[in-house]
Amino acid sequence: QPYPLYLFQDFWCPGIHIQAVDLFQQHFRAKQSDVVVASFPKSGTIWIKALAFAISNHQRFSLENHPLLTSNPHELVPFLEFTFGGGDIQAQILHLDNLAEPRIFGTHTPFPSLPTSTKESNCKIIYICRDPFDNFVSAWTYFNKVKPLSLTAVTQDEAFEMYCNGVIDYGPWWSHMLGYWNESVARPDKVMFLKYEDLKENTSFHVKKIGEFLGCPFTEEEEKNGVIEGIIKLCSFEKMKDLEVNKSGVIGRGSIEKKNFFRKGEKGDWVNYFTPPMVEKLSKIVEEKLSGSGLSFKKKF
Ligand code: A3P
Repeated sequence: QPYPLYLFQDFWCPGIHIQAVDLFQQHFRAKQSDVVVASFPKSGTIWIKALAFAISNHQRFSLENHPLLTSNPHELVPFLEFTFGGGDIQAQILHLDNLAEPRIFGTHTPFPSLPTSTKESNCKIIYICRDPFDNFVSAWTYFNKVKPLSLTAVTQDEAFEMYCNGVIDYGPWWSHMLGYWNESVARPDKVMFLKYEDLKENTSFHVKKIGEFLGCPFTEEEEKNGVIEGIIKLCSFEKMKDLEVNKSGVIGRGSIEKKNFFRKGEKGDWVNYFTPPMVEKLSKIVEEKLSGSGLSFKKKF
């Protein structure tokens, strides 16, 4: 593997993020008004980041002159994993303390490994996951293009084997999903659990729900004036993909080309990649791992 994954605090942590996770666990100070957008990688992180940003700021920015038109969602909603990069910790804490509220952060870190203050305060967490079949395809196509990342330099069969064993950045995917799922069942006011497929199917319903969850509901007037529809359009795959700020340039310490965050943006693309034995194998794993939890995905046969 071009970069190693380490089993760290019960999850497969990319080596390059271990120090940051350790540092933010020690030093990050959550605020009650924080919003954390959590996701398993390749589940629609960039989409939910854009939506969360637009929804929580819907009274602040006009749709015509919106920061999402000129900034990439990963810039507007930075990953917690990138907030502590070593160096002067006190300066980083001060910088974070002084950010405008509500602060919105993204994270791929599993629930148990979040900073204690994030877990225990009343800050809000929105989690998005995706049907594992499409999640695998999105991860495989992405990691195979964005080098050097963990699934690179393996064949699709090998990558599938690793995925089935839970060996993928921030995996196993089932523990990741269940960690947030169980928390959302226990504390629905704290953790909102979303599926990519549901969000795709009925975006406006979920946008309204997110507004309520974050304590910034849309008024009837705003709804009538097309604010919800405007936000959906602004954050749509077609719109985001074609913005210059998402089309060219690189992002993150790994210098990932921004255009790689947008591939197909659909549900059900797995049918173009899965053989019948793969369908059977992953179906069994999904069933076994999620059984009894109340979390499920559409049956594949
Ligand atoms: P596909 O590879 O299936 O196309 P992440 O942001 O977690 O890396 O997830 C990336 C996936 O979300 C990719 O899926 C990408 O195309 C899709 N995506 C990106 N922007 C989207 C949007 N605005 N609406 C729906 N899906 C989007």
